[in-house]
Amino acid sequence: MAHYNLAFLGFGNVGRALAQLLESKRAELRERYGLEFAFTGAASRRLGWHANPAGFGAAELLDGGLDTRPRLSRKPVTDLGALSEWLRAARADVLFENTSMNPHTGQPAIDYIRTALEAGVHVVTANKGPLVHGFHGLRELARAKGVRFLFEATVMGGAPIFSLFREALPAAKLMRFRGILNSTTNLMLSEMEQGASFEQAVKKAQDLGIAETDPSFDVDGWDATVKVSALATVLMDYPLKPADVGREGIRGLTAESLKAARMMGRPYKLVCQAEKRPDGTVVGSVRPEQVPNDDPLAGCEGATSIILFQMDVIHGLTLSELRPDAVTTAYGPLADLVTIARGV
Ligand SMILES: NC(=O)c1ccc[n+]([C@@H]2O[C@H](COP(=O)([O-])OP(=O)(O)OC[C@H]3O[C@@H](n4cnc5c(N)ncnc54)[C@H](OP(=O)(O)O)[C@@H]3O)[C@@H](O)[C@H]2O)c1
Repeated sequence: MAHYNLAFLGFGNVGRALAQLLESKRAELRERYGLEFAFTGAASRRLGWHANPAGFGAAELLDGGLDTRPRLSRKPVTDLGALSEWLRAARADVLFENTSMNPHTGQPAIDYIRTALEAGVHVVTANKGPLVHGFHGLRELARAKGVRFLFEATVMGGAPIFSLFREALPAAKLMRFRGILNSTTNLMLSEMEQGASFEQAVKKAQDLGIAETDPSFDVDGWDATVKVSALATVLMDYPLKPADVGREGIRGLTAESLKAARMMGRPYKLVCQAEKRPDGTVVGSVRPEQVPNDDPLAGCEGATSIILFQMDVIHGLTLSELRPDAVTTAYGPLADLVTIARGV
């Protein structure tokens, strides 16, 4: 049996859903993978630092029990010294870094992750910021420290994209990808085609818990752009920065133009794509496009997302994730934890 102490930095939608999912699969993980775990740390700006090497009960963690518990430290959550102290106090083996995304610099999450890796702690993140602004350095640091830096949930939540290329597609070269990677805007486009206003469509995405903390990240195409950048960085080994991805969001589309496009048989989709050029560079874009009805992207409705990969060895491979919810996103980090435990 392998035992892991788990610490959560950032305990919002993803952190909480992950703790719940892990708890519900505790027996299955033990039986199938010999994996045991305790929740020994939780921290966020509001909660402050909490550590218990004996393990918090799931109820204490999830039902507001930490609110009345004394904090380990009064230092702010951005203090890297306090982070090191917290990881030691929690005797953490794995840090789940699920703080808000900063699409421009990836900070402060890059510093959080670096501090944990330096301390010999595995890191699993759902945060795309550190991936696009710090991937190569963090990967090298993890290798040097003999720990893992994994991030399956960053693109299409629970769908196995990074593990697919890492484990199941050896020596395949990704030449091009094209897809719908932002659930919020795809849901909004579907809702607006049905007559909802822009504001009603945003509200629907927020109520479903799929919108980013700041919905302009979704609406202005930032979330999708960062995903294009993350895929190019990791799967095409090309450091395509979000600022270098051509970006246009969906603010220019009205319910009328969307309805008319659908009637014409060429619905609008926020299309994400990237392509490797012969000189090895990668160009990427995110923009609304009218796609023909027989395009797989046209049938991708609501919060569903889809990606088509074109490789040197497989001409087309498609993954679609139907109506993701909080559990779907939490499944990505859970799968990463199993990867750590299996040592693959
Ligand atoms: N929601 C999704 O469906 C989804 C899907 C895939 C990936 N992601 C990514 O997962 C991450 C978390 O998303 P979420 O939906 O859980 O967001 P959320 O509900 O807003 O939670 C964010 C958490 O991070 C904490 N936090 C924010 N900035 C921090 C900072 N600078 N230092 C320390 N803690 C900080 C917040 O603490 P306070 O509340 O105390 O301020 C909160 O606990 C984001 O990077 C997001 O892009 C989300």
